[in-house]
Amino acid sequence: MKGIILAGGSGTRMYPVSSIYSKQLTLIYDKPLIYYPLSILMLGGIKDVLIISNAETIPHYQKLFKDGSHIGMNIQYAVQAAPNGIAESFILGDSFIGNDSVTLILGDNIFYGKLDFLYNGIKNNEGATIFGYRVTDPERYGIVEFDHDGNVLSIEEKPKQPKSNYAVPGLYVYNNDVVNISKNLKPSPRGELEITDVNVEYLKKKKLKVSKIGRGVAWLDTGTPVSLLQASNFFGVIEDRQGLKVACIEEVAYNMGFITFEELEKTIANMPKSDYRNYLERINRD
Ligand code: DAU
Repeated sequence: MKGIILAGGSGTRMYPVSSIYSKQLTLIYDKPLIYYPLSILMLGGIKDVLIISNAETIPHYQKLFKDGSHIGMNIQYAVQAAPNGIAESFILGDSFIGNDSVTLILGDNIFYGKLDFLYNGIKNNEGATIFGYRVTDPERYGIVEFDHDGNVLSIEEKPKQPKSNYAVPGLYVYNNDVVNISKNLKPSPRGELEITDVNVEYLKKKKLKVSKIGRGVAWLDTGTPVSLLQASNFFGVIEDRQGLKVACIEEVAYNMGFITFEELEKTIANMPKSDYRNYLERINRD
């Protein structure tokens, strides 16, 4: 299983910082936003990750993550020349994906809580596995309509009159067909290759599974300054209370067996003196 993080976009809502780099580099409490989706892929056992972003931001990601080997990963990078749509990820990622299956996560999507939905999705996927999460503002998302038996009837992108309150979060598990499906898509009226059109294709072929995520999981959207602040507060409260960090990728790498104790020590030794380093040293001693 390969992983892709789509972390670009025009980011105009985040002006002025978006004139320098994309918003996935802004801090959520104590670490860049992109650490959260990256750690989700890692927790799903995915070691090969392609980060896609605009030309201005890619060098910043490269500085942050290098080739990923210090956390036992293989991290590659690709430039998306313009925000042509989420499904373009699979066209840009064609050679990276090869013959494999792929999990895509949007760089501004944060998940926190029991991740069984993800583990099962990755383990059991046959065609496409996407998720349904109850929200109060369905007109902002891709929306799934279910019948009384829980079968999927339709998926619509940002419907004016939503047929349910189940939004599709920015986390998608696909078999290799996704590459060809994406290559054959036509841009939508807003000029994008829509991820919802990919999911509709799988639905037509009866190869789409939508698994509902229960209330024990937080899915945070970070599309606006207010939602960034809310996410920072959310993780600030949790980290302060428990004394444990969320999405500390070096700790995740060690816990997942991606790196040994000695490799973790070496990675820590290369960090500047900081609260982040102090935390890892404390965890290491424990
Ligand atoms: O967050 C989940 C939602 O994400 C889904 O429910 C929708 O079906 C899906 O279309 C998407 O909707 P958004 O309106 O949130 O998409 P947005 O255009 O904001 O893009 C999501 C992220 O992906 C954002 O951080 C920017 C990045 N992006 C987006 C596009 C279209 C890119 O890096 N390149 C792109 O071409």
